Amino acid sequence: MNLSGKTAVKDIAVSSPASARILEKAGVDYCCGGGQSLEDACAGAGVSAEELLARLRASAAEARPEDADWAKAPLGELTEHIRQKHHAYVREAIPRISALLEKVKAKHGANHPEIAAIEGDFLQLGQEMISHMQKEEMILFPYIERLEVSRRGGAAMERPFFQTVRNPIQMMMNEHDAAGNLAKQIRKASSEYAPPADACASYQRLYGELHEFEADLHQHVHLENNLLFPRAVDLENGAR
Ligand SMILES: [Fe+2]
Ligand SMILES: [Fe+2]
Repeated sequence: MNLSGKTAVKDIAVSSPASARILEKAGVDYCCGGGQSLEDACAGAGVSAEELLARLRASAAEARPEDADWAKAPLGELTEHIRQKHHAYVREAIPRISALLEKVKAKHGANHPEIAAIEGDFLQLGQEMISHMQKEEMILFPYIERLEVSRRGGAAMERPFFQTVRNPIQMMMNEHDAAGNLAKQIRKASSEYAPPADACASYQRLYGELHEFEADLHQHVHLENNLLFPRAVDLENGAR
């Protein structure tokens, strides 16, 4: 791809998983705010677009072969990857992080009221994610999988109760924005996951886990918003 400051962040993230990781590390929003140009996104994140471009170009030159190319793989493989990697991670991380929050709040809550605020946001985020993933797994993903099979075989499909795939996709994207905003609030309340000087080992682990949870959310939403959803819309419109 022709990489410049004007390139949309989501196109860069889609070009390879390694590029998405570089954007993640730099703190550039590539999932919900992916429509922005690299320059604008860098200005928003307070990072140098020139430096980031140099890193992205260097990484493109040494693309890792194990990076699956989700822009071309069958959609059924992509939905399975999202279930196995991201949905499974969210389900096991929520109880683990909630327990840590409980423990750290009991020990440090009096001196650090931000822990209670983070706990409130995280519990809400967890609840919303669980019901969000259920909708994807029970309604949207199976529809996309059936659509792909039917397009391959050329068989007609009945119109779904939601009329067009664009409707549940819009709903899922709105929920992604809400989840992204809660994660941003947690990032802010935790001073960008920097534990205070008096933090014990559990406190430090908690911030590490919360940081990882946010990074996974970004990668997860990126795969859906920028790859799975637009490809499902194309497929419904008749692309093979
Ligand atoms: Fe998902
Ligand atoms: Fe989602």
